[in-house]
Amino acid sequence: MHSVDLATVLPLLRGALLRFIPAVTLCEAPDATARPDLTVKVQGEEEASDDAGGPVSELQDYVREHGSVPRTIRIADGPILTVGSTLSDPSTRSGEPLIDSLGGREDVVKGRVVVVTGGAQGFGEEIVRALVGHGARVFIADLNLDGAAALSDELNAEHGAVTRGVEVDVSNETSVAAMFAEIMRRAGGVDLLVSNAGVLKAGSVKELSSADFEFVTRVNYTGFFLCTKFGARIMAPQNRLAPSDRSTDIVQINSKSGLSGSNKNGAYAGSKFGSLGLVQSFALELVSDRIKVNAICPGNFFDGPLWSDPDRGLFVQYLQAGKVPGATSIADVKAHYEAQVPMGRGCRGEDVVRALLYVIEQPYETGQAVPVTGGQIMLS
Ligand SMILES: NC(=O)c1ccc[n+]([C@@H]2O[C@H](COP(=O)([O-])OP(=O)(O)OC[C@H]3O[C@@H](n4cnc5c(N)ncnc54)[C@H](O)[C@@H]3O)[C@@H](O)[C@H]2O)c1
Repeated sequence: MHSVDLATVLPLLRGALLRFIPAVTLCEAPDATARPDLTVKVQGEEEASDDAGGPVSELQDYVREHGSVPRTIRIADGPILTVGSTLSDPSTRSGEPLIDSLGGREDVVKGRVVVVTGGAQGFGEEIVRALVGHGARVFIADLNLDGAAALSDELNAEHGAVTRGVEVDVSNETSVAAMFAEIMRRAGGVDLLVSNAGVLKAGSVKELSSADFEFVTRVNYTGFFLCTKFGARIMAPQNRLAPSDRSTDIVQINSKSGLSGSNKNGAYAGSKFGSLGLVQSFALELVSDRIKVNAICPGNFFDGPLWSDPDRGLFVQYLQAGKVPGATSIADVKAHYEAQVPMGRGCRGEDVVRALLYVIEQPYETGQAVPVTGGQIMLS
């Protein structure tokens, strides 16, 4: 055991490094006996000022002398950390360049450390794939660790060590805390949290069990609170030492049902409406930590597993339940729902990703809910 409180110190050190290089990960090195390039003395929040004290000036001295950031750093008597741009110890990989410049809009997530909850399938998977394509380092956080790990393996085979599956139950505080502790050991901080994990249990208010109501509320509403709580604890100290024009983002994947009631689907709509209250309140509080908090409210993802799963999807359920009068096939049910969208189709992952990149790029907006519904929901 070392005496350094890594949960406090790692984001401070990563924030300080971001002054010298725009995208960086800090990963615990496997060889604890190696000699680090630099030892810094940062001990805690007292160094977290805007003036260039503590780790900032120590890094400044190093960069002046060597012309580059150190590749390995020890914090006081803590572990040795490798400075890189992937989610594995870069000393075990050869030729992995640090990312030293960022370009235009498509680069807003390049080299950024991202967590996507519920990232193993559905909208989450689409978001993970797109962010990796745009150069992000993505933790795929899901109850379904096998699914998250399979997606991570597939993406890493193509792109290098840029993703990692992490097990989490967003409705459980201990599990969320453990997930962020693992992320800290692998990356040293977080730039973007996409709170996407969500569940749906439809049912009449006269019939729905309180167990089902509470399950939906715990995952969709409490889960967003817990992820923001532990994510913000990392982002706030990191941002304190990072360049002052740099902010981090928390984005909840909400729903059109967070903007307009949903018949016989009150638990879900309630959890989504309530989450927008959290978004606005967290945005007000966290603005001073340079953390923006926004929501994206997609329309129905007809091509995703929730609707299109051949055994348990909503289309097959609605067909069997005779919910759409006259429908004799899944295609009939789908056509019925598509006709309710002015743009005539369901929401897709790429539509959500465009909105996500917008809210990240836009520095002058927080506490907002952005509808992505093909015109089905219009703000008043
Ligand atoms: N599918 C839609 O039509 C639609 C429309 C609007 C908004 N949304 C929202 O988008 C988000 C994703 O929905 P989807 O349809 O892609 O879902 P999905 O059911 O296809 O996938 C959800 C993922 O979350 C994971 N998950 C579930 N509970 C979890 C928990 N407690 N902790 C961690 N992970 C958990 C699941 O394992 C799964 O991988 C949700 O918040 C949902 O409310 C979906």
